[in-house]
Amino acid sequence: MDTADHIVGSSPVSGAAGPGVARRYGPVAQSVHWLVAGLAVIVVSLGWAAGSAPHNTAARGDLLFLHRSVGLTILALMIFRAVWRAWHPAPPVPASLGRIEIGLARLTHLGLYFIFVTMPVAGYLNAAAAGHAVSFFGLFSIPPLLPVNQRLSQWAIAIHLLGQYLLYLVVVLHVGGGLYHGVIKRDDVLERMLPHRRGARLRP
Ligand code: HEM
Ligand code: HEM
Repeated sequence: MDTADHIVGSSPVSGAAGPGVARRYGPVAQSVHWLVAGLAVIVVSLGWAAGSAPHNTAARGDLLFLHRSVGLTILALMIFRAVWRAWHPAPPVPASLGRIEIGLARLTHLGLYFIFVTMPVAGYLNAAAAGHAVSFFGLFSIPPLLPVNQRLSQWAIAIHLLGQYLLYLVVVLHVGGGLYHGVIKRDDVLERMLPHRRGARLRP
């Protein structure tokens, strides 16, 4: 997606950008971002549904099976995007942003990486430390990679159940921040995570 405003030409740009510096997140980073955002809604809905389904029923089993599989997909995507990000730095932020605003955004992003890795790992540890393999959509299973430890298993599910509240907090801050920039301030912060659209050019 090396469109005219994905790559900076000779025009001066916000931040420390210079010629040839990307101004939006690239297509891979954007695709994974929106895919994970969609999967996050699905995994949380499945988690709630499984949590409120009666124990020892087929419905709860099916919901947990899907919940775990989607959760492991998110884990794989988060690891992939962290590695991708290490090789593809984020585009510069608009010059209108203050240092505190930038610092808070970075903290929120770190929080998102942290919580979206911790949650599936805690979910896996809960099953593995109880001696159970975790199926991935029935395609293959991840065996328990540690000895049985019921205490660890219970700690892991406690972290999983409590961790959801940190997740809601960080997601609300992040989505709120994104919408604040996109709808109220109307600067280019949100635009950087959206594909190039005709007529929607980034400010010089
Ligand atoms: C990003 C990934 C994940 C997120 C955001 C997530 C989130 C949640 C949420 C919100 C609940 C509902 C809690 C409640 O009812 O109060 C839940 C339940 C649960 N999750 Fe996850 N989860 C993820 C991945 C996983 C994975 C990978 C596993 C297992 C391998 C797992 C195992 C469980 C179990 C067993 C429950 C049911 C607990 C119960 O009510 O008995 N989760 N999860
Ligand atoms: C409607 C929902 C969402 C909106 C509007 C949104 C918007 C954005 C925007 C505009 C950025 C770029 C911000 C910047 O670089 O300053 C961004 C980055 C990011 N978003 Fe979201 N986001 C949403 C949902 C999510 C969800 C659910 C996750 C869960 C993991 C997430 C994870 C991230 C991460 C980790 C980054 C930083 C990317 C990086 O630089 O490595 N976002 N988001």
